[in-house]
Amino acid sequence: MAKKKLFIKTYGCQMNVYDSQRMHDLMSPHGYQTTDNMEDADLVIINTCHIREKASEKMYSELGKIKKINDRQRSDEKKIVLAVAGCVGQAEGEEIFKRAPYVNVVVGPQSYHSLPELIAKIHRNENHLIELDFVEEAKFDKLPEEFSNVKTSSFVSVQEGCDKFCAFCVVPYTRGAEFSRPLEQIYREVLHLVQKGAKEITLLGQNVNAYHGRDSHGNIINLAGLIRFLEKIPTLERIRYVTSHPIDMNYDLINIHGESKKLMPFLHLPIQSGSNKILKAMNRKHTREEYFEIVDKLLSVRPDMALSSDFIVGFPGETDRDFEDTIDVVKKIKFSQCYSFKYSPRPGTPAAVKAQIPEDVKAARLRVLQDEIQKQQFNFNKNCVGKMLPVLFEKDGKFDGQVVGKSPYLQSVHVKGASEKLLGKIIDVRIISALLTSLSGEIVS
Ligand code: SAH
Ligand code: SF4
Ligand code: F3S
Repeated sequence: MAKKKLFIKTYGCQMNVYDSQRMHDLMSPHGYQTTDNMEDADLVIINTCHIREKASEKMYSELGKIKKINDRQRSDEKKIVLAVAGCVGQAEGEEIFKRAPYVNVVVGPQSYHSLPELIAKIHRNENHLIELDFVEEAKFDKLPEEFSNVKTSSFVSVQEGCDKFCAFCVVPYTRGAEFSRPLEQIYREVLHLVQKGAKEITLLGQNVNAYHGRDSHGNIINLAGLIRFLEKIPTLERIRYVTSHPIDMNYDLINIHGESKKLMPFLHLPIQSGSNKILKAMNRKHTREEYFEIVDKLLSVRPDMALSSDFIVGFPGETDRDFEDTIDVVKKIKFSQCYSFKYSPRPGTPAAVKAQIPEDVKAARLRVLQDEIQKQQFNFNKNCVGKMLPVLFEKDGKFDGQVVGKSPYLQSVHVKGASEKLLGKIIDVRIISALLTSLSGEIVS
């Protein structure tokens, strides 16, 4: 049977990256193999993100491109079948068919396991099929156990959805209520990935540190318990987890950073704003002082812990004074890297109907914040020069003879070397220079 070609374009967070891989794994038993060229594809899946307006708009421009390919060069039988998956699919549903009638299928992030069935129906001349159910765990029960294209550093979703309802955020609406996968199911998946060559596993969840899955005896296990369980797998070398909410940073989880040899000393812990007034308006459920306390505790058990955060500037009601409080947090914590965004009003969220901060004010604040973040990131990187860091090598670099890996603190590290000797291995590297977003080093022995 001639292989059919599948092209997947992924937007948004790492959970979408995981989901895209699983959509590929779902389609491959049906004769699909991936292509890097959209023009060649029989099936295109656009896995979308709804978090900011820009992210959603990107989807429509991508859909337009596929329509053009279909209009230009395809007879009816050879037209690309077009599926929209992910959070825009969930949020906009049928609207997508109205705005882009050439889309054939829409599936949500909790129902993409039905893709093979829906695509088969499209081939039987049905059209405009939509599946947006949220049935807890149904997806994970139906996903294939087999993963293809396993990477040295692989993702595993362990928790999905969100019950926190921050005033700016669409995730509780697009991903549904919080649920955690059972411990043994995750263990089997991690074991499979490790047997196929993964050395590092990043446990994923919109609120991964709220993980509370059941073990085979029905006991509830928290994220620290899950990490303790997984780290027994001998050839699993590194564990990370993302994204965490400050209110779920419990003692057990903080302490395991001091105990575990496999858990990496890096934590992405979004604070969003440094102003208590704005944190309250955002419904973040904690203060800046509580955030500082968590960071102090983490540093007391793991002094080399590196921290990163997300920030939103220009949330409704944010004054210059509130923004200064954000800058003050950045200066005090000394993050190793951060993401920062202008507030984007999202339909259906409480903050979207509040009086908005002018675009130019948001842009100016973002520039100031990003300058400060960059200064710190560069300082963090410069402080690594001269040190020996264990680097897990993941891929070839842009230049000939260059190999790239990750430090424990999630910095990209470039070295000159033979990729066949380095890829998939953790090797001590002496850091010789630092750039804003990466390090260069040499292998000493
Ligand atoms: N669950 C994570 C974040 C998930 S969304 C947490 O609680 O921190 C990823 C990031 O996108 C958020 O941390 C936030 O900084 C940003 N974000 C979410 N909604 C946004 C909006 N409406 N406008 C701008 N940025 C937003
Ligand atoms: Fe969104 Fe807040 Fe949930 Fe994070 S915790 S996913 S920001 S609602
Ligand atoms: Fe985007 Fe959905 Fe992730 S909105 S950030 S893809 S959970």
